[in-house]
This record gives sequence, C-alpha cells and structure tokens, in this order.
Amino acid sequence: MAHAVTLRALALLPLFGTRPISAASCATVMGLRFPNRLGVAAGFDKNGIAVKGLGSLGFGFVEVGTVTPRAQSGQAKPRLFRLPQHEAVINRMGFPNDGAVVVAKRLRAAKYFGVIGANIGKNADTPLNDALQDYIAALQAVRDVADYVAVNISSPNTKGLRDLHDSDRLKPLIAGILKERDRLDAERGGQTPVLLKISPDMGNEALRELAELLCDLRVDGVIATNSTTARSAIADDPLAMQAGGLSGRPLHDRAVVVVRQLRQIVGDRMAIVGVGGVDSPEAAAAMRAAGADLVQLYTGMVYQGPGVVWRITAGLT
Ligand SMILES: Cc1cc2nc3c(=O)[nH]c(=O)nc-3n(C[C@H](O)[C@H](O)[C@H](O)COP(=O)(O)O)c2cc1C
Repeated sequence: MAHAVTLRALALLPLFGTRPISAASCATVMGLRFPNRLGVAAGFDKNGIAVKGLGSLGFGFVEVGTVTPRAQSGQAKPRLFRLPQHEAVINRMGFPNDGAVVVAKRLRAAKYFGVIGANIGKNADTPLNDALQDYIAALQAVRDVADYVAVNISSPNTKGLRDLHDSDRLKPLIAGILKERDRLDAERGGQTPVLLKISPDMGNEALRELAELLCDLRVDGVIATNSTTARSAIADDPLAMQAGGLSGRPLHDRAVVVVRQLRQIVGDRMAIVGVGGVDSPEAAAAMRAAGADLVQLYTGMVYQGPGVVWRITAGLT
C-alpha cells in the first residue's frame, strides 16, 4: 500500500517543478546521454506510471518493468517484507505487470524526454524452452519507447528463470534477442542498447564464463545485480526464511564485488550498471570505483526517502 501511494504521489510531482540538470553531472554511456548517472532500478515503477515524477525527483534514468508479453498478477500476497534493522527488503513479487503492450502505450502517452530503460522478462506460465519467444514479443512491444532494453534473467521469483544463466541456454537466448534488436533497429532506425541483468548468486568461474560469453556476443552492457537468495547477512532476522530475493544494505558488498570482477574481465568492451544496496553517496562511489558506469537503487529509497536521490546525485558529479 505504501508503495502504491508513493507512486501516485510521484506521478503528481512534475506539477511542482523539476530539479534542474547540471552540466557537470551529465554522462554519455552506450551512446546515450544521461543527465546524471543515478537511475531507478527495475521493479519500482513496473508499469511506467511515474516516469516523469521520478525524473522530476532527480533520477538520471528510469528503468521500468519487468514487463512480460502478457499481463500477469504475480505471486500471492504477502510477497514483500521489510527488514528495518537490516535496511533490507525481501520480495517475491513474481513480475506483476500490465503487460508490455499496455506499458509501452502508457510510456508513449507520457511524452517523457528523459532516459527510459525497459526491463523485459518471460511470463510465469511460459515454459523455459520457449523463453526466447517471450523476450522477443516484449522487445517488439517496448522497443520504440525505450532508450535501452534490459533482459532480466535473474529474478529469483519466476521458476527456472535463473537457469537461463547457463551458457547452453544463454547463448541462443541472447543471440536471438540481439538478432531481433538488429532487425528492428534497421527497420525503424536508431540503435537500442541491450543489457543483461544478472544474479549475484554465482561463483567466480561461472561469472567469468558469463562475462566472456557476453563479450563474444557483443552485448552492450550488464546490470549487476538483482536481489540475492543468500541469507547469511541477515541470518538472525525472524524474516530471513521468507522465500524471495533480498535487496538493500546486506546485498551491497556482494554487488560491488560482482561489478569489480566483471570490469576486470570485460575491460572497456561493455557498460556496467551497478545496483545493490546503494543508499548513500559513499555506496554509490564504491560502485563507481568498482567500475560501474551507471548506478541504480531501489531499496535505498524505501529507507532513506527521496533525499537520497539528491545526496547521491550531488556526490556523483
Ligand atoms: C520489491 C522489489 C521488486 C523488484 N522487482 C524487480 C523486477 O521486476 N525486475 C528486476 O529486474 N528487478 C527487480 N527488483 C530488483 C531491483 O531492481 C534491484 O536489482 C535489487 O533490489 C537490488 O537493488 P537495491 O538493493 O537498491 O534494491 C526488485 C526489487 C524489489 C525490492
């Protein structure tokens, strides 16, 4: 309920003015011009109802979604838990969303001129072997309203989704998505960067293999990371055993390590978006120092409020 009220309030925010863009904070990444390097992570505005408000608040980009080809209601409630003493959240939302076509139509009507990413996924009832068809359908729907597309294979709340990290599955999936991206770009003009959003829960070897594959396939970027299924950092919490992905402060160190390892492997061959427990200028700086070109947050805003956006963007110039 708190989330729904916040989104509604954000949708009204542009009526009260917009934070000015400072030239010092601008950055060009993947050929896109960002007013600043801090974005809203996927899941916050799943249906694209508050992109303008989030821009007015001071975010340099907004990643909407995850959207799936068909609308779906997600998992049964309760599906979101706050762990205040850890400044963390566990969620098992399961991609509730209005469907890619409806969200794309809403974004078109919004006439928002800031940077929008569209995060796409597969429907819960689509067999894993047919995942590519879902990603392609979602890509086709959002392509014209998105400045970049994020391919989400890392939500822990859609059964089997993370199996798409395996090279045998990932290679044809990404190759198929990039082929369709190239076709759409040639047909409609423009260049749409495609990024892969990955899990923090893999070993070093698997991460290396994945990063090398992404370089071979010429993916434009990686978003690291999604929420974690690990619970070691919050083992003492009564909610620790709730199923779902853990985000917020306990994820931060791991997400920074993943970003650093990725940067060591990929060099300057792709962009990296660092996300996970960013809730202060220091945490954002740690992501940048590890090699992230751009930074995103979600849970940080739950605990720190909107002021965190101003503090971090001031620090990121
Ligand atoms: C309630 C909730 C819903 C989320 N939904 C999505 C989603 O639909 N797609 C996605 O890629 N990530 C989703 N995420 C993950 C965030 O985008 C982000 O990767 C993760 O929460 C770590 O960042 P944070 O610690 O700043 O929250 C969600 C996170 C939360 C807390």
